[in-house]
Amino acid sequence: MRLAHKVVVITGAGSGLGRAASRLFAQEGARVVVTDVSEDRAKQTLDLVHGDGGEAIAVKADVTVEAEVEAAVAAAVDTYGKLDVMFANAGIPAKGFGLTAFEDISEAEWDETNDVVLKGVFFAVKHAVRAMKNNPDGPAGSSIICTSSAASLVGYPGFPQYGAAKGGINAMVRICAAWEIGRYGIRINAICPTHGGSANFILPGDAPVLEKSHEEMGGEWIPEHSPIPLKLPRPPRILDNAYPALFLASDESMYMSGVCLPTTDGGTLATVAIPFGDDWRENLNENARKGDFNG
Ligand SMILES: NC(=O)c1ccc[n+]([C@@H]2O[C@H](COP(=O)([O-])OP(=O)(O)OC[C@H]3O[C@@H](n4cnc5c(N)ncnc54)[C@H](O)[C@@H]3O)[C@@H](O)[C@H]2O)c1
Repeated sequence: MRLAHKVVVITGAGSGLGRAASRLFAQEGARVVVTDVSEDRAKQTLDLVHGDGGEAIAVKADVTVEAEVEAAVAAAVDTYGKLDVMFANAGIPAKGFGLTAFEDISEAEWDETNDVVLKGVFFAVKHAVRAMKNNPDGPAGSSIICTSSAASLVGYPGFPQYGAAKGGINAMVRICAAWEIGRYGIRINAICPTHGGSANFILPGDAPVLEKSHEEMGGEWIPEHSPIPLKLPRPPRILDNAYPALFLASDESMYMSGVCLPTTDGGTLATVAIPFGDDWRENLNENARKGDFNG
């Protein structure tokens, strides 16, 4: 059991990655506080965890409301006596899902994304640190994981406010790790998913929870048709992001902090902007000599 004796709070746990992590972490022995802005979704996840034989409670918490995040953390401490792990995971896409021209993004749309994606993570980290400092066993070894995105590392067309908020998470993670909370022995890292993202992310908040990735929803999986350089016989799943989060939650990552880890990338972040022709390998030396990288 990789999370035996750990008490975990997960935000945005009513669907997608938060739900998958709730189930996985509980299967690994954690006692989980399942939280979501949707009470209904949180209860569904709770039922699934209980059905798996896991231990959990559900608390409604909108991450944009500091008092609700504080109350969710307090519920962990009141129920289980401490907090070991915070998975600050809740997030929403940019309004219009990439269709709004940058110059037409309203202040309200900018604020809506940033309130959930960045301020919500700030509230979760802030109240986690307070609880972790009061852990009766001491704060050392506590772990905070934030869900960032590959949009924080490379350009995502149509997602400027989302990418800005996720980039803000990465900066906060690095600063907190180095100066703010590392001194308590609390570590903080981020995962930056690229593939295996929950298909619910692009659906309304009251849609049925599909528990599938975008790629799993895309019909027959033909690796050669996928832009992911790593060719595997199955599509990326939500669990492919939950497992890296499990590693960061567990003591296996005890000496990792301030890391923003691209997950389920499959090599995409290693591709280059310079277009190489199909014959790049044969012509590599010749092209390099000529300074011609277009094959
Ligand atoms: N799905 C993707 O394509 C993708 C890609 C990269 C990163 N991410 C990130 O992964 C994280 C998890 O999202 P997901 O992919 O599982 O999507 P999802 O939509 O399946 O799940 C997100 C959950 O967050 C909840 N939520 C929304 N607003 C909230 C709020 N204000 N307070 C609390 N909960 C709230 C929703 O009700 C939902 O249950 C997010 O941070 C998202 O930005 C997603």
